[in-house]
Parts: sequence; structure tokens; C-alpha cells
Amino acid sequence: MEILAGSKKIKTAVFISGTGSNLKNLIKFSNLKKSPISIDLIISNNSKAKGLIFGKIFNIKKKIINFKNINLAEKKILLELKKNKINFICLAGFMKILSKNFIKNFNGKILNIHPSLLPKFKGLNTHYRAIKNKEKFSGCTVHFVNSKLDSGKIILQKKVRLNKNETPKTLAKKILVEEHKLYPKAILKIFSL
Ligand code: GRF
Repeated sequence: MEILAGSKKIKTAVFISGTGSNLKNLIKFSNLKKSPISIDLIISNNSKAKGLIFGKIFNIKKKIINFKNINLAEKKILLELKKNKINFICLAGFMKILSKNFIKNFNGKILNIHPSLLPKFKGLNTHYRAIKNKEKFSGCTVHFVNSKLDSGKIILQKKVRLNKNETPKTLAKKILVEEHKLYPKAILKIFSL
């Protein structure tokens, strides 16, 4: 990827809405020598997101953006990204849908992690739907973000097997463990291309 030119790490923002376990994991990864990215900014639409704590713990700048007016929210985010010279974005449990126009500004430079084997189970309640559908496997996917929800080019996927007595909660837990391995792997993969 051309944004790897030079020896410095690529300034990255992580967008969250909730717990932020993927954020924490990405921060830890970014601190490794082999990581092509550094995490320089955390964006959240939710002032109560638990994951914001990692901004404090790891001393990373955070910005809370109210999404009542999506146009305005995106303008504010773009400004913030510019101010902080951000060149790459990782969505990690970010519960808002970004507009076409926003994505155009970072075309090919936004990743998302989704807790299903896309193209199966786009959107919400993936674990519940996978169990209800009697799937033998589910898993997680890291993909590029395009203007259609959970539909961008797939980078990596990891399968997990569903147990007989699987519940959305047990499945979520099992998949999250794999998400934490998959996201860094996907980042390494795209930057080694
Ligand atoms: C993860 O399952 C992710 O795939 C989905 O939302 C969840 C976020 O978890 N998009 P966390 O906030 O990173 O702990």
C-alpha cells in the first residue's frame, strides 16, 4: 500500500461505540515493532463507551462526536482526522454507518471487523441469527469499508464451530477471541501487499 512509504508508522484512528476490546488489542499491536500503524486518535459517537478508558490508559487522544446530525458529525470527524494527520481508519464496534461522501475521503483506507462470516449475516444480531439458522460455523471477517453495509472487499476471515448448546453470548465470546487475532493479521496483510 502506497501510504507505507517512509519508515514512520501510519497514523491511524480507531472508531468505537462500546467496550473497546478490539481497540485495546489494536493499541497493543500498534506498539509492536512489526506494526505498520500507530494509533493516534480514538473517535466515539458514545460518550459512555467503556472503551474510552483505553485513551486514558494508553495516553491516546480521544474525541466524542454527537451523531444527532450525521452531516455535521462527519464534518467534525474529518476536521479532527486532518488536524491529527490521520491516514488510516479502523472501525472496531462502531455502531454508526458512515456516508458515501465520508468514505470517499478515505477510499480504501477504512477497515472494519464484523462478527460473522460475511457475506452471511450483515448488520446486527449476527450471533443470534447464526444460531437460529442452525449454522455449523460462524466466525469473523475483516474487510475494507465501502458504501454498502458490511459489503467491502474481504481481507481475512476466521471460522469457529458452533456447539450444540451455543447461545449468542457464548458464541460472541468465542468469536471475540478470534477477532483479536484476526484484526492485526489483516492489517499486516494489507500493508505487506
Ligand atoms: C465486535 O464483535 C465487533 O466485531 C463488532 O462489535 C464488537 C465490538 O467489540 N463490530 P469491542 O467493542 O471491540 O469489544
